[in-house]
Amino acid sequence: MSDQDLAARAAELRRTLNEHIYRYFILNEPIITDAEYDALYHELKTLEAEHPELITPDSPTQRVGSDLQADLPKVRHPRPVLSLGNAFSAADVRAWYDRIRRLLPADTPLDFVVEPKFDGLTVVLTYRNGVLEQGATRGNGEVGDDVTPNVRTVRSIPLRIPVDPSQPPAPARLVVRGEVLFLKKDFEALNRRMIEEGLPPYANPRNTASGTLKQKDARITASRPLTAYCYAIVEADGDVPDTQWETLHYLHALGFKVALDVARHFDSLDDALAYVESFQDRRHDLPYEADGLVIKVNSHALFEELGVVGKDPRGAIAYKFPAEEVTTRLVGVTHNVGRTGVLTPGAVLEPVAVSGVTVRQASLHNYDLIRLKDIRIGDTVIVKRSGEVIPYVVGPVIAARTGNEQPIEPPETCPACGTPVQRAEGEVAYYCPNPSCPERVARNVEYFVSRGAMDIAGLGERGVRQLLAAGLIHDEADLFTLRAEDLLQLEGYAEKKVENLLKNIEAAKDRPLDRLIGALGIRGVGTTIAALLVEHYGSIDALAAATQEELEQIPGLGPQIAGAIVEWFSQERNRALIEKFRRAGVRLQREAPAQPVSNALAGMTFVLTGTLPTLTRSEAEALIAQHGGRVTGSVSQKTSYVVVGAEPGSKLQKAQQLGIPLLDEDGLLALIGAQR
Ligand code: IVH
Repeated sequence: MSDQDLAARAAELRRTLNEHIYRYFILNEPIITDAEYDALYHELKTLEAEHPELITPDSPTQRVGSDLQADLPKVRHPRPVLSLGNAFSAADVRAWYDRIRRLLPADTPLDFVVEPKFDGLTVVLTYRNGVLEQGATRGNGEVGDDVTPNVRTVRSIPLRIPVDPSQPPAPARLVVRGEVLFLKKDFEALNRRMIEEGLPPYANPRNTASGTLKQKDARITASRPLTAYCYAIVEADGDVPDTQWETLHYLHALGFKVALDVARHFDSLDDALAYVESFQDRRHDLPYEADGLVIKVNSHALFEELGVVGKDPRGAIAYKFPAEEVTTRLVGVTHNVGRTGVLTPGAVLEPVAVSGVTVRQASLHNYDLIRLKDIRIGDTVIVKRSGEVIPYVVGPVIAARTGNEQPIEPPETCPACGTPVQRAEGEVAYYCPNPSCPERVARNVEYFVSRGAMDIAGLGERGVRQLLAAGLIHDEADLFTLRAEDLLQLEGYAEKKVENLLKNIEAAKDRPLDRLIGALGIRGVGTTIAALLVEHYGSIDALAAATQEELEQIPGLGPQIAGAIVEWFSQERNRALIEKFRRAGVRLQREAPAQPVSNALAGMTFVLTGTLPTLTRSEAEALIAQHGGRVTGSVSQKTSYVVVGAEPGSKLQKAQQLGIPLLDEDGLLALIGAQR
């Protein structure tokens, strides 16, 4: 490929990937699979690694964070970033309306936009000539923290606008305001990951979003899935809409995530209020936390004219939903054992209704938090439930204490198997160290068959427990030797179901090695780390033989994960597991890469230009690779040879300038020599 072709390909990949990101994160309508996305992303990443000059700020690869300097720099906002006044009832809203009516000429028509009040944190995004230049927090409204590298990792924030190039270009400078938050499902997934890794879960999505956006290391931000909804233009050099309603559509057209599914335009306050009141029941259906709805005067001119009181614009008001906290009695605590052995405390509550649902159990997060908040059995506690987030105990009502409350201690022995509980140095979690603990085994098998792991369809939590209880399996590996006649004995297993299940199990034997490694349930080893391990080791046996020192050398692996891997493979049970996998015919190796035929070209780098007489381009590339050589796209001092065919491109001149030796096809074949 000529340099020009490479640049064109990079641009094409950037455009395609950004389109898919938009489809996935904004429209929720992906048209390609994750694997296809990954392949395109990988191609761009490789291209950019070889040609750093092709990297542009709007490349999707630039969403992966890099190190930030120790202190967050400050930025002055172009205009004050205002807050909102609150209303807690229809009467409050009407009082607000009367106030603004009095400030305006009597016959001024007023219409309104109602939007969700996102419970996240404000970001101020500056685009110059369509390219994201800066992202800042609200700070004190005048000055905010510059969090640009973090903001770049948020995939619903476009790096270039308009995302759809057929849309009219954005103004030369556009400053957009939005709210960064965790979608409920993402927050729950993050907490599941924390618990699996033996770390304490986060209590509150808003605070976690805030902490995540203000990280000094943007790689951490990148590893946590934030989302941003945009709702206002702070400032623009160029034409932008005159009304809020049009602004929302305009932002959407530019490619921002906008809550158009919730937002409504009303010609009267009564209609707006009716919508606001009818919305109370729907708040839980939202994919994010909202603490109310915002009613805004639609006309920007009137909004400006109405001015500001303190930090609150008069032209808008937040109607806050009633709090979803109730009090009840904490009657007991359960200690649950997770797959990695981590113990998590759960609250047993006197049943209580919270926003229409009866709550009997709630999360207590972890033992440190219990101690920190001094939560005791018998306490009157505040319980919060919001949306699908598991209800949790906010804290005790100290004033309601009678003196009979009992402190909560982590159990000394595992509630499932009785093994003394341990606490790892520097970790919050208490855990059961017994790898054969029945509860741990059950959770491990559940995890092993789950979608993110070996993906054995037809086997869920219940099915796994049933197989364990019937004694048909004792560990993950036993799944692969299940027999139809045994399964048919089980309740609920008819011919067809058994046949399908066995077929799915058979198919799982050939899953890629990183899937298997990720499915083993080693602490801290998820899919990303598993892929890294396969890259370095290629087989389960090689990984099993790896030492702590060796593992720590791998960029991306810390001493804790390295330790967990060595520890896992040192366990008798786990070694036996691997042997059972082997006997059952489960893939324990990376899919065979094309085997090198020789290493005649080892350490050499080739550049191809022009058309060769007999070999096609890909044949020539494959041939060089088979003999241990590498093909790159452009000529540099590091190039060993340039292979020249008919009608060569500019690479030939470049080679001549740099004095790189040239080869024709015969020369290349001669270099490979007798091995061929
Ligand atoms: S408009 C002049 N709209 O709520 C514009 N704010 O409690 C004033 N917020 O600081 C803000 N959703 O961070 C607006 N749809 C929405 C919002 C929203 C959430 C936040 C915003 C503000 C805070 C005030």
